[in-house]
Amino acid sequence: MTATADVHTELACQRSAFSLPHGLHYLNCAYMAPLPVVAEQAGVEGVRRKRDPTSISARDFYESGLEARRRFAALVNAEGAERIALLPGAAYGVAIAARNLSASVGQNLVVTHEQFPGNVYAWRRVAAESGAQVRVVAPPPGGPGRGRAWNERLLDAIDASTAVVAVPHVHWTDGTRFDLVEIGVRCREVGAALVVDATQSVGALPFDVRRIQPDALIVATYKWLLGPYSYGLGYFSSRFDGGTPLEETWIGREDSEDFQHLVDYRDSYQPGAWRYDVSEYSNFALLPMVVASLELLEEWRPERIQAYCAALVEAPLHEAADLGFTVEEPEWRGAHLFGLRMPPGLDLVGLRNALGRRNVVASLRGSALRLSPNVYNDAADLEALLEGLREALK
Ligand SMILES: Cc1ncc(COP(=O)(O)O)c(C=O)c1O
Repeated sequence: MTATADVHTELACQRSAFSLPHGLHYLNCAYMAPLPVVAEQAGVEGVRRKRDPTSISARDFYESGLEARRRFAALVNAEGAERIALLPGAAYGVAIAARNLSASVGQNLVVTHEQFPGNVYAWRRVAAESGAQVRVVAPPPGGPGRGRAWNERLLDAIDASTAVVAVPHVHWTDGTRFDLVEIGVRCREVGAALVVDATQSVGALPFDVRRIQPDALIVATYKWLLGPYSYGLGYFSSRFDGGTPLEETWIGREDSEDFQHLVDYRDSYQPGAWRYDVSEYSNFALLPMVVASLELLEEWRPERIQAYCAALVEAPLHEAADLGFTVEEPEWRGAHLFGLRMPPGLDLVGLRNALGRRNVVASLRGSALRLSPNVYNDAADLEALLEGLREALK
C-alpha cells in the first residue's frame, strides 16, 4: 500500500484490510463500519500506552489531534487544520452550530423529512427558544424522478426568511443525494447558514468544502470514516470564529501547551475552530484510530470508493430491477448507500429470514431495504443478497 496511489486507477477490493468474519455479507456500513486492522492496532497501542504515563508527553496532547485535523481538512478540501474541531460525535457538532447561529420570529430553519434526529433536535430547540419555525421538506411520493423532485422542493423551501438550512449530503434512510453545491448557492443568495451533517457520506463520497462552502460540516467517525465510535470531526467556517463553545476547556485556550502556566487564565482561545474542541479530545486510544483510518482513506480516496461501490452494485441492481425491486436513479443517490424498494406484496418477514439465512446484513427501513456497501464487499456479497431477494419472492 502506498500513500501515493493514483486516484485514477481502480480500487481493488480491500477486504484483507479488515477482520470481517468469514462468510459474513456485511452491507450495513451506514449502521457502523467494521474497523480496519490498522485502526484496531493503533487503538490497542494507544490503550497500552497508558500503562506508563511517562510515555505520554505534553506534546502528545496536541499532535495526534493536529494530524487528524490536517488529514480531515485535506479529505474535504477545507482551508486547513485551523478550521477543524475535534468532537465526541455528530450531535455535539450540530449543537455548536445551533448555539452560535441566531434565528427569530418569522424566520425558518430548513431540514429534510425524516432527517437523522441528531440534526433535528438542536434546531427544534432553536425554534422553541426563538419563535422561528422548523420547515420540514418532504419528498414527493416514490417513483421515477423522486430524488430530483425532492431536491427541487428543498431549494424552493429556502427563502428570504430562512435562517439556517441543516441537511445531510445523502439521506440516512435511503441514500437520496442532495445537491449541496446548488443548496449552498441558494443559502448564500438569501443569507441563510448551511449546516451539513455528512456522517453518511464523507469518506465514501467526495465532499468539497471550497465548492459547497458550508458554514459547518459535521461527521461522526464510526461509519464512512472507518474510525472508532465516540469521535467526530467538524469543519467550522470563519463565520464561527469568535463564537461560544459548548464547554470552556483549558486546552482550548491560547498557550495551553504551557502546562506550567495554566492558571495564568487567558481570555483568548486557540485559533480558528479549536475553541469548539471537546474536553479531552486528545483521547490516546481513539484519536490514533481516527488518524489511522483517515490515512487509509487518503490512499483509497472517496472518489475511488464511490466508483468501487458503483461498479460493484451496477449489475446486481439491474437484476434486482428485473425482479421488481426499484431504486433511485444513480445521480440522485449514493453508490455506497441506497434503498431498495420492494415489489408490491413482498413479505418483509420472509425477506428478513431469507437474508438472515445467508448471513446478509442490511437494514430494513420502513418498506425499503437499506444497502450500504464499502470497499470490503465483493461480488459474492451481492450474489448472496440477490439469492435472498429471489427466495423472498417465491
Ligand atoms: C446522518 C447521521 N448523523 C449522525 C449519526 C450519529 O450521530 P451521533 O454521533 O451524534 O451519535 C448518524 C447515525 O446513524 C447518522 O445516520
